[in-house]
Amino acid sequence: MGTPFSTLIRTASHEQHTEAESTTFMSDLLGGALGVDAYARYTEQLWFVYRALEEAAEGLEGSAVAGPFIQAELFRVPAIERDLAHLRGAGWRDGVSALPATQAYASRVAECARDWPGGYVAHHYTRYLGDLSGGQIIRDKAEKNWGFARKGDGVRFYVFEGVPNPAAFKRSYRVLLDGVRADELEKLRIVAECKRAFALNTAVFRALGEEFSSAA
Ligand code: HEM
Repeated sequence: MGTPFSTLIRTASHEQHTEAESTTFMSDLLGGALGVDAYARYTEQLWFVYRALEEAAEGLEGSAVAGPFIQAELFRVPAIERDLAHLRGAGWRDGVSALPATQAYASRVAECARDWPGGYVAHHYTRYLGDLSGGQIIRDKAEKNWGFARKGDGVRFYVFEGVPNPAAFKRSYRVLLDGVRADELEKLRIVAECKRAFALNTAVFRALGEEFSSAA
């Protein structure tokens, strides 16, 4: 019965993935060209995005479309908060601010959570499957670049304590995607929202790149 939805969404967003991954900010950050301040500022932006994703989660548990994706072992806000306390100190909440690009991203997630469960699935996939995949590469680089303890404070965002086998988890996540309660047209809309989610991430990286440049 055609291409599985998990394959469709992955291949359709491949180009956007490459674009996000190869932004100057990401290359500089992972290449060790930027200080820990840039990494902390990036982690702050993630806090706003995951709050939007996870504050909405409980309300979506009963949704036929988004409900199956809501899994507490994925929740990242507590881990990000521990990282920020480590990176910025106990008073981190006083200094945290969302870039306009981050505000736009978090608002779009909140809007989907409120009005469109299929759109929420697109954002859920783009973040959590990415964190379980490339996120592990980012963690490794961050530990090396800025001397965080392996899987410790500073990189807890990338450590899924409740997911002991990420490869198996990703397989079962793809089964969920393949069974998403959506007709063909709605699936295309979800794919389009996934591309938009990648573009929103790229916009955050570009904004961070304006703040932090290895050439400066
Ligand atoms: C430098 C940054 C990044 C690196 C090194 C990276 C690397 C990777 C790698 C190696 C995979 C494939 C894993 C596999 O096949 O199992 C992957 C998958 C993925 N990445 Fe990234 N990535 C980065 C940035 C991002 C960003 C910014 C996003 C979106 C917010 C993202 C979202 C995803 C998603 C959704 C997948 C899963 C694709 C699928 O199997 O359906 N990645 N990433």
